[in-house]
Amino acid sequence: MDARSAALVRADFRSVVESPHGPERLISAFYGHLFAENPGLHELFPPAMEMQPRRMATAIQYVLDHLEDWERAQGFLEQLARDHRKYGVEATHYDSAGRALLAAFRAYHGANWNQELEDGWRDITILISASMAIGANSDTSRPYWDATVVGHRLVLDDLAVVRLQSDEPVPYQAGQYVPVSVPQRPKMWRYLSPAIPSNPYGEIEFHVRKIRGGWVSPAIIGETTVGDRWKIGGPLGGLRVDRDSGRDVLLIGAGTGIAPLRAQLIEMGQRGINPRVHFFIGGRYPCDLYDVENMWQLSQSNPWLTVVPVCEQKTNPWWYPHPVQDEPYGMHRRLIGNLGAVVASFGAWADRQIQIAGSAHMIADTRRALIAVGTPEHSISCDPV
Ligand SMILES: Cc1cc2nc3c(=O)[nH]c(=O)nc-3n(C[C@H](O)[C@H](O)[C@H](O)COP(=O)(O)OP(=O)(O)OC[C@H]3O[C@@H](n4cnc5c(N)ncnc54)[C@H](O)[C@@H]3O)c2cc1C
Ligand code: HEM
Repeated sequence: MDARSAALVRADFRSVVESPHGPERLISAFYGHLFAENPGLHELFPPAMEMQPRRMATAIQYVLDHLEDWERAQGFLEQLARDHRKYGVEATHYDSAGRALLAAFRAYHGANWNQELEDGWRDITILISASMAIGANSDTSRPYWDATVVGHRLVLDDLAVVRLQSDEPVPYQAGQYVPVSVPQRPKMWRYLSPAIPSNPYGEIEFHVRKIRGGWVSPAIIGETTVGDRWKIGGPLGGLRVDRDSGRDVLLIGAGTGIAPLRAQLIEMGQRGINPRVHFFIGGRYPCDLYDVENMWQLSQSNPWLTVVPVCEQKTNPWWYPHPVQDEPYGMHRRLIGNLGAVVASFGAWADRQIQIAGSAHMIADTRRALIAVGTPEHSISCDPV
């Protein structure tokens, strides 16, 4: 595609994204054309799709931003299509997706459509659909694994530890996350982070917190029973300890964000030699540190690990009427304050490889606190939220 055409489609897409409800109008036209040509595809989608226009617009924007670095754009589209296999989307569907996307741009612009836009968007939609078809065809591994719930334990009113046994081991690395679909909310895939490393027996553990008003997490907390069959998609994400760097490790996790960090620590516990690790576990109340006893136990048999509990409040809330237990002898005392501020109060941790995991808000807060005291930005890893 020549530079003039690229500039034209970029400017045109900016006008769509910046106009009120532009992405919604465009993507709704896309689905209108797609389902008119393939009525069966409607079945693949969940009932609630309010996030979809933004997600799809972000994907198209990524492609437009990388037209001069096509390998990156193609890699992204191929990965997207490999991932789409879990929804049941096949390579043969992308031809008509390309046509539907071009028709959507035409419909969006109505009388303002012209030959230059037609030529520019035709090139882009062909590039997208061809790359996605290649991606869908390029992977013969399974799109998802089936697993049976073998345990469901409420550790807090709104937090469950769910154990599953997959029919075949899911090949994730400790620290990665996986898309999950549960029978109570079919087709609504959500990301969860396994809290134990992958093992040959196919055992997986997830820690799930209920998000009020959410579709899937309340069903996992309140409706999941032993025997339920879950689907687990291919692993994603790059949180890992770089053993070759020679650098010690700082892990910071809050809430169920501890899961990917915990999985890595359990895996490290299976090795003889490890870098030194400081693990700060944060929560609002002491009861939010629901797994700290297990982490203390792990640290007792692994001298390279120091666990530091941090709470914003000293006591439990009224709805959790249990006294706060003292730390076991020899364990780091509980610190009180904002997690990011407490970690940053120790200094910049400039010689460490650092991982932060938790809610989007907690990650942004903690990053900011560390960078403010001089932590090099490139030392900090966190997964997209
Ligand atoms: C990489 C990654 C790993 C994850 N790992 C885990 C995990 O191990 N355990 C776990 O419990 N969850 C984890 N999550 C979050 C999980 O994927 C879901 O987003 C969460 O369970 C909410 O889903 P829902 O269907 O209940 O809510 P939705 O129906 O998707 O959302 C309902 C509303 O709640 C808002 N919302 C969604 N998530 C949050 C949040 N965290 N805090 C505040 N508001 C929110 C949404 O914006 C929306 O307005 C992870 C997310 C990512 C991106
Ligand atoms: C025949 C074509 C396609 C079908 C049937 C299809 C189907 C789906 C389905 C069922 C979802 C899940 C929706 C949800 O959970 O709310 C999804 C998500 C998504 N789709 Fe598509 N899609 C197609 C083409 C495309 C194209 C062409 C793009 C962009 C270039 C795209 C980008 C995305 C993105 C970014 C998401 C969200 C991320 C994800 O969950 O993987 N899709 N799609």
